Formats: sequence, C-alpha cells, structure tokens
Amino acid sequence: MDDELNALRRSRMRWNTPLSEAHASLLLDRMALSDGHLVDLGCGWGELLLRAVERAPGLRATGVDTDATGLERGRAAAAERGLAVEFTEADAASWDVPVERAFCIGAAHIFGSTKAALEGLARVVRAGGRLLYGDGFWSAQPDPAAVEIFGPDTLTLPELVEAAGAAGWRVLHLSTADQLEWDDFESTSRAGWAEWLAAHPADPRAEEVREWLDRRLREYVRDYRGVLGLAYLVLTR
Ligand SMILES: C[S@@+](CC[C@H](N)C(=O)[O-])C[C@H]1O[C@@H](n2cnc3c(N)ncnc32)[C@H](O)[C@@H]1O
Repeated sequence: MDDELNALRRSRMRWNTPLSEAHASLLLDRMALSDGHLVDLGCGWGELLLRAVERAPGLRATGVDTDATGLERGRAAAAERGLAVEFTEADAASWDVPVERAFCIGAAHIFGSTKAALEGLARVVRAGGRLLYGDGFWSAQPDPAAVEIFGPDTLTLPELVEAAGAAGWRVLHLSTADQLEWDDFESTSRAGWAEWLAAHPADPRAEEVREWLDRRLREYVRDYRGVLGLAYLVLTR
C-alpha cells in the first residue's frame, strides 16, 4: 500500500491496543510515574507515552519502533502538544539502556514470544522499577483458525502470570480488556480505510482495501472475538 493509505489505516485509532481512556488512566496510575527514564518498546505512535509525559513532565521519555509512519505521527503529536518525547526508529529488541519505567504493549513478538519478552524486559527495567506489559492470551478455547492467526505460543492467563513470575517479575496490577474495548479497537482499526472506501469506491486501490476490511471483520467475529483476550500487567522486580 502507498504512504497515503498506510497513514490513513490507523488514523481513527487512539492507540493500537484495546484500551479505553479510563482503563489507560488506571494503568498510568499504577505505574507511579514521576521522573527517571521511561521507554516504550514497540511504541507505535506513542499516544500512551505522550499521556505519561503530560502527567509526569519530569520523565525522560523514549519511544522505539520500526514503523516510520507511526513514529512520524508520534513526533507530530508531541510537537503539537509541546511534549518532550524522543521517537527512535530501531529494533526494540536491541534496547540495552536500563530504565526506571517501561511500556511494552502488544509487542511481545519483538522478542520472539511472550516468555522471551518477559525475560528480555527484565534486563531492561532496573530493580525496583515498573513495567506496563500488555499481551494477548486465550480467554476461551481457540479454534484452529484463531491459533493460525495468533500463533501457537499464545498463553492462557494463568500461564501468562506464571511466565511473568518465572522471569522474576512480581504482579502489582492485572486487568484485562473488556468486550467494548475490543469492539471499539477492532472497529477503529477498520474505520480509517472503511471511510476512505465509502468516499472512493472506484479507486484502483479500492478492491485491495475492500478485501482487507472484509477479511479482518470476518476473522474477528468468526475466529477470535471473545477468544483472544488482552491482559495488562504492571510488573516490578
Ligand atoms: C500492536 S502494535 C502496538 C503499538 C503500541 N504499543 C500501542 O499500544 O499503541 C505493535 C508495534 O510493534 C512494532 N514493532 C514490531 N516489530 C518491532 C521491532 N522489532 N522493534 C520495534 N518495534 C517493533 C510495530 O511496528 C507496532 O507499532
């Protein structure tokens, strides 16, 4: 897809995870942000990072992602809101600066798996620091189609909590995305292109966009709605 459609695809999303404003605010509370260095590994456009700095202007904040489009959106939002956040285009798996606070949300695949992410992040966060970790888990028995989409390494919630403990983390907070958060996330993930398609039905790119939208909605309602959960853990070590 070209740059125009690429930028448009996620334009209706607040962030790239199923998370309400109220739930985000609760998670930021539990991160006890004040000063020190906060890094967001796999930050996307870093909206939660920007909210963190709005709450705690003493933070040094860095977002790391490989997606230039998302990083550009983050830089523009930071400039517009007068926030000092550094957005870095890099492989987050190679981050080796110890920090007081970290976010890693919906981005375990950067490290290869949930277990590898929890272990790798334990090397990033200083002792006594906090990590906001968001990851998918099976909230119901998946059909083979769901396993095909999300991979065989997806854990159940008890397995996820166990993996965090095995990597040396203590759980300070645990909450999961509810159905409305999921439905809003999925709807907003399609809305940018759905609105474009309604306005440009005869565009040469329309067929590809239509197929993507139809497949994503079909897979959601048929394969993983109510089956894939998203857990948010605030962890310390
Ligand atoms: C599901 S999105 C979550 C984004 C963000 N954490 C949020 O909650 O809005 C996963 C992000 O991981 C990023 N990503 C994938 N592989 C990466 C890598 N090796 N290094 C850094 N970021 C990566 C993608 O570009 C994408 O922005």
